[in-house]
Amino acid sequence: MPDLDDRDALSTFRRDLATWFRQHRRDLSWRRVRDPYAILVSEILLQQTRVEQAQGYYARFMAAFPDLATLARASEEDVLKVWAGAGYYRRARNLHQLARAVAETGLPTTAAELEDLPGIGPYTAAAVASIAFGEPVAAVDGNVRRVLARLFAVEAPNARWLRETAERFLDRADPGAWNQAVMELGSLVCTPKNPTCAACPAARFCRGKGDPERYPVRRVRRQMVVSACALVLKGGGGYVLERRDGRALGGLWGFPLEEGPSALEVLLSRYRLASARPLGTVEHAFTHKKLTIEVYAASWPGPVDDPGSRPLSVLDRKILALASVSPVP
Ligand code: ADE
Repeated sequence: MPDLDDRDALSTFRRDLATWFRQHRRDLSWRRVRDPYAILVSEILLQQTRVEQAQGYYARFMAAFPDLATLARASEEDVLKVWAGAGYYRRARNLHQLARAVAETGLPTTAAELEDLPGIGPYTAAAVASIAFGEPVAAVDGNVRRVLARLFAVEAPNARWLRETAERFLDRADPGAWNQAVMELGSLVCTPKNPTCAACPAARFCRGKGDPERYPVRRVRRQMVVSACALVLKGGGGYVLERRDGRALGGLWGFPLEEGPSALEVLLSRYRLASARPLGTVEHAFTHKKLTIEVYAASWPGPVDDPGSRPLSVLDRKILALASVSPVP
């Protein structure tokens, strides 16, 4: 097998992968533009959202906030409303802060400067700097990690090895296309399960292809199972909604919700209610936590909010859907 430590082999590998990418790259909206802001928005979305879903959110976000200045002028609530459904809302809050920080100056053009901005880690900084500005820096995301681990049959690649290997492989003639080519290979061919090694342009260089799923060893994700209660308090024209805080859903609005064994009592006492009627159960999974939410309802004589006018997370839209099909007392 040709050895990627050899310079000629590395050149052949670069050429083969670049050719494969030209032929197989997906036609994605953010690949049709050169606008660094648009590329930044796409990379922030792709941090935690799959390409298929990211496309719709990207189109909606760019239609609402076509440039840094428009985003900087918007309220956080309007930004969250447009992001609603995509999840990981901290990304939207950070992007909004970033726009406010650089609206006057424009985006910096190097990975080192980009990394100082809110919500930008080494991966996103390198992706934007290479794709939008042509800086020769390697971007290492989960796809790149998997591709490199398999090429060298490494079960537990460490961060330093990954960075050094990715930098050594980087095609400095077109770093943006190169980074995207490695990621695209990871998304389309060198997939976590059932990779299609027979279709891989790098198969002849790959030490892991005999048993690809062995590399890299997968991290086991523990998901806590948590029970919670939510209150649907219905009045004329809407429901009682609370502004959430906290890391995950901070800045969004939702139905009063508490976790833990005394959740219902806590909610009832907050709204000075003697009881509420069970409506049903809603399940919602976050990355580290799976919530089973018992939903209760009561009528509410006080002020209410129109849920259509507030940024709601997917979790709260599920509760809203349940409330909409169930008669609330
Ligand atoms: N994943 C994140 N950003 C990507 C990009 N620009 N191309 C392919 N996959 C990606």
